[in-house]
Amino acid sequence: MLLSAFQSEIDALNARLLKKDMPITAFNSFTDGLQPDQRSREHFITNTNLDDDNLWVPYANGIWFQPCCFNVTAGGFSLVLKGLPGSMVGTHYHVGGVHGYTMRGRWRYLEHEWIAEPGTYIYEPAGEAHTLMITEDSSEPMIAFFVVEGGLIYLDKPADGGFAAYEDGFTLLELTRKHYREAGLDARKLDLLVR
Ligand SMILES: [Fe+2]
Repeated sequence: MLLSAFQSEIDALNARLLKKDMPITAFNSFTDGLQPDQRSREHFITNTNLDDDNLWVPYANGIWFQPCCFNVTAGGFSLVLKGLPGSMVGTHYHVGGVHGYTMRGRWRYLEHEWIAEPGTYIYEPAGEAHTLMITEDSSEPMIAFFVVEGGLIYLDKPADGGFAAYEDGFTLLELTRKHYREAGLDARKLDLLVR
């Protein structure tokens, strides 16, 4: 009797999960352009240029990034993020840890009291949902370097949100390639950032 009650709960849970648009299906459309045996394991350097507007990949309203590394092997990526005062990156959580270093401007997470300034390092644990905002009083655009050790999942609302979108080294590589093609930049250069 008790067992069958549990079973119906499990069935209901599975039915709910199956109805969700799970991000894993998205991998079917991401070939990443570099097969595993083509990926380099060697070290590399890349030079960002914060003053070259063309190189900033549009991400959200008032938010851009310049990529440093697409780690499609582990799923993560690293990049320099730029945001205008008052701009936001929607509520999301990470499936791995994140390291961030602020170079310019002031920004915060709406879920926390602290404000990051030039020189502020931040560690974000996996699973913590947060909403990034460049503070209105920031005297210049925020520029920060982030190392993201896995995918991130955007939520459809700040509290008790459900799945809205997925991002990782694969999706950002596709997004960056699209921008490079549209901006007349050499998208093949991005292959050098793939590991
Ligand atoms: Fe984050």
